[in-house]
Amino acid sequence: MKKKSLTLFLLIVMVFTLAGCGAVETKGESKGYIGISMPTKSSERWVNDGENMKIQFEELGYKTDLQYAEDIIENQTAQIENMITKGVDVLVIAPIDDRSGLSSVLERANQRGIKVISYDRLIQHSEHVDYYATFDNFQVGVLQGTYIEEKLGLKESEGPFNIELFAGSPDDNNAYFFFDGAMSVLEPYIDSGKLVVKSNQTKFNQGATLRWDGALAQSRMDNLLSAYYSSERVDAVLSPYDGISIGVISSLRGVGYGSGDNPMPVITGQDAELASIKSIINKRQTQTVFKDTRELAKKAVEMADALLNGKQAEVNDTKTYDNHKKIVPAYLLNPVSVDITNYDSVLIDSGYYTKEQLGK
Ligand code: GAL
Repeated sequence: MKKKSLTLFLLIVMVFTLAGCGAVETKGESKGYIGISMPTKSSERWVNDGENMKIQFEELGYKTDLQYAEDIIENQTAQIENMITKGVDVLVIAPIDDRSGLSSVLERANQRGIKVISYDRLIQHSEHVDYYATFDNFQVGVLQGTYIEEKLGLKESEGPFNIELFAGSPDDNNAYFFFDGAMSVLEPYIDSGKLVVKSNQTKFNQGATLRWDGALAQSRMDNLLSAYYSSERVDAVLSPYDGISIGVISSLRGVGYGSGDNPMPVITGQDAELASIKSIINKRQTQTVFKDTRELAKKAVEMADALLNGKQAEVNDTKTYDNHKKIVPAYLLNPVSVDITNYDSVLIDSGYYTKEQLGK
């Protein structure tokens, strides 16, 4: 190459390189920075929620910081502090313990003009919660209660049937909605004697399961079975969440349910986790409630996007979710009951799971 054309060539290379750098820079410049604080990776649903949000935010040009706190309250607070220090514009938080300690960290967030979205679970005792994206939590319980009502044929049959009741974590506002929703259907049958709770443990606190821990549920079920069911069957178990259902099922299988002429009782659940859909296919768990995490993520993303653009986000509930400081404007999505008869149309056809994942 002659000197002159070499210089020209180098110039062209330089111009392209600089233009390239510019392009990378523009791509790297985000529309805003979103801190996503999820409770734990131990439940598949939160992994999906976090990933779905990360993908959707990044598609819109936002930068994200996604953290899981492994169900340790102090971890979650420290992670949120760190996000504030890093300069996030919006925090999306699914609290581990919604009654406690987030109010002071949210106070700091507010001083820095950071907006807050409560994700699936309601953050209590703070006025600095801008929106709440969730499902119709009372309806989740209604779906579970109605499923038991239909499966046992409570409307038409004389009964009595034996049932035991599990509730979720007492530090999660949702747990009370699930229990109340289910009891709105089941309580009249308990009162009339068609449903019998042999343990007599019919109150939320008696059936509560701290941190939704399946192992705790399993040991409570072990105790119930040995104390009250040595000579009688349990016909149904109200379980508010798939992780709890798995614990209950292990306990039942341990004493022979699900084999020979001793079928499993009707067992509800929630979240349509992969293990539980497989369990439904294998006729162990009976039902679950599907809450599409893709849709929930979409709502949270829309809310954050609106907040950062000075717009109002779409909400459909401005009455129900009082966090003791304010009524948080919420968008409630619809939960769907899933069992052996519809899991394929609801979960496979919608692309939530593939046939392969379900071993089909
Ligand atoms: C609740 C949530 C449920 C279930 C449970 C345990 O707050 O609404 O869908 O995931 O936590 O993780």
